[in-house]
Amino acid sequence: MKIRKAVVPAGGWGTRLLPATKALPKESLPLVNKPIIQWVVEEAVASGIHQVIIITNSLKRPMEDHFDRSFELEYVLARKGDTKMLEEIRRITDLASIAYLRQKEQLGLGHAILVAKDLVGDEPFAVFLPDDIIDAPVPAMKQMLQVFERYKCSVIAIERVDPEATSRYGIISPKPIAHRVYQVQDLVEKPDPAEAPSNLAIVGRYILTPEIFEYLERTPPGRGGEIQLTDGLKLLLERQAIYGYEFEGVRHDAGTPIGLIKATISLGLKDPEIGPELREFLRSLPVGTSEPAARTPK
Ligand code: UTP
Repeated sequence: MKIRKAVVPAGGWGTRLLPATKALPKESLPLVNKPIIQWVVEEAVASGIHQVIIITNSLKRPMEDHFDRSFELEYVLARKGDTKMLEEIRRITDLASIAYLRQKEQLGLGHAILVAKDLVGDEPFAVFLPDDIIDAPVPAMKQMLQVFERYKCSVIAIERVDPEATSRYGIISPKPIAHRVYQVQDLVEKPDPAEAPSNLAIVGRYILTPEIFEYLERTPPGRGGEIQLTDGLKLLLERQAIYGYEFEGVRHDAGTPIGLIKATISLGLKDPEIGPELREFLRSLPVGTSEPAARTPK
């Protein structure tokens, strides 16, 4: 069965990026030359998924506006004769068929996905967490779709992390099945390194069967009073197999200041327009000045 729909949960408050995200959605922050949300929608489209359901909240209007037409801007660009940017602005508008659903209370990632239940309907679907930007020769979701086609079960993206860092991730207990493919035996949320069943961490790309909705509806609030996707997946696992796929590519965490800076530098260096100058700039930085600058006294 073809995966036609993507759900992009963007209903969280982005507190790790405060104060930048006080009045601006974190998905609207720029990563190189476009907002984070555009990178994710482009990955969906490059993977052949053209229907995108974005879960939003009351402060996320700028994210929606980004994919809308702006006739005034088009007029200004046309008058300036900037046809290249005019085409780019129109391309963004036509990128995908996007629906927005408001999550009225921030009750967690599992709850955000549940908001999309009626729009998704009774078919498997993809989930993209915009915090995770994956730089890959073949889009990470496209790689996962091949695994889904073979096993016809839910697939979650995994990556190897430093064994000391397991307490920051959902970790799977893996049974190797094929090259880069593991059958998930269990999922453990943020285990201490001593208790982690592996160092294979869940990252923000999933293909889920529609049965997940039933289980999310039954999932009681867990850590932080939120409905956790991991808890719903654990219930699903009792009925259906779930596979973990170790994608080829590099994941950047765009949900923290340092992660966003690293992502900007890594992807910026690859950008044909700004890459050469950025490389020169990085080379020109004095080495060994690792001390943070003294804070301005209040
Ligand atoms: P996070 O907890 O990592 O993101 O949720 P957050 O809440 O936006 O950010 P911090 O932790 O306060 O900095 C993972 C994903 O789930 C979405 C977020 O938008 C993010 O994409 N999410 C989280 C929701 O859509 N709704 C929620 O209630 C919680």
